[in-house]
Amino acid sequence: MDIEALNQALTEVGGLTRSEQPAALDALQAAFPAPPQREEWNTTFGAGSLYDAWSRTSLATAIYDANRTTLRAHLQGRPDFVVVEIGGGNGHLWEGLFDADQTGTIVLIDPLAEVGELVSRHLPPGVRLRHVQAPVESLGDLDPGPVDALVCSLCLHHVAGWDSAQRRRHGLEGPGKLEVLSRFARWLSPTGGLGLLNEADIHCDLSLEPGSIALRNNLFDSYVWRCARAVLADIRTREDADEELRARWLAIVHAWCFDQLRYADVPASERDIYELDVGRWLQLLEAAGMRVREHGFTDPWHLFHRYVFEPVPSAAGSLAGKPVSG
Ligand SMILES: C[S@@+](CC[C@H](N)C(=O)[O-])C[C@H]1O[C@@H](n2cnc3c(N)ncnc32)[C@H](O)[C@@H]1O
Repeated sequence: MDIEALNQALTEVGGLTRSEQPAALDALQAAFPAPPQREEWNTTFGAGSLYDAWSRTSLATAIYDANRTTLRAHLQGRPDFVVVEIGGGNGHLWEGLFDADQTGTIVLIDPLAEVGELVSRHLPPGVRLRHVQAPVESLGDLDPGPVDALVCSLCLHHVAGWDSAQRRRHGLEGPGKLEVLSRFARWLSPTGGLGLLNEADIHCDLSLEPGSIALRNNLFDSYVWRCARAVLADIRTREDADEELRARWLAIVHAWCFDQLRYADVPASERDIYELDVGRWLQLLEAAGMRVREHGFTDPWHLFHRYVFEPVPSAAGSLAGKPVSG
């Protein structure tokens, strides 16, 4: 099946009833043979990886461009700035962001050693990297010092659950998103620093039970209807992409978009992605003591949403009296 036929067939699946879509999508995936390169999400990020190809899609570059513009303006005239990044991926955000003579520190929170190496390649000599090699939810005691800005792009959805209470109801220990965001508020509070959060607009967190129709529909809307079609549009139209990059983008459509629907049926603790939709992220940021200054989609498919926020003075980090939702 060539790429135009695949795109057409996928558009037709979108026109079916909800109950017809799963079988039609299975048939389409079977007619579209698995590309040779398979990689689990978030396992490797270097040159030639699927993540490297992902970071060059129009969906991803729009996120980096928006964040770079905000960070560049915010860090201007702040010698020896400190920026905390949670989840660095291949470090693409930092490519070309700084002037050669800029000075400061990036505190990178990411469990993978490879990610530290990849981020450091994009930093000029005056910008030092402090890599805290651990999952963010394990860092309740971390004190990063005065923080000018914090960026958490496509990472917080790895933390399951609205808060620790909801996690407990699903048999999980430890902090949920609310507690992690409240830490961000605490780190940003002394300086009134700026926070950036990028996440897809899709509700697939713990409150949606495995096998539920709502979960399946939401995964379809996000990973297939918006994400797969956006990557297919790049394959069809981006003249700067060579055959090898197009092949890796096709592997992403197969393995990272279509295959995501399988997560609708696994136990909730194994889902790997626990996204929220825009209304819920806004509610959560407010509950964590943040004022959202600006938010909006970064792509025309309305997949990824960006939240620009700062801690509310004195309220930051306080969980008291905040409603549990999600
Ligand atoms: C999808 S990538 C996003 C990378 C980058 N921020 C971007 O926008 O392209 C997720 C990153 O978060 C890291 N990560 C996954 N779980 C994490 C956790 N619990 N705490 C901190 N980082 C995590 C992964 O190692 C990976 O670098």
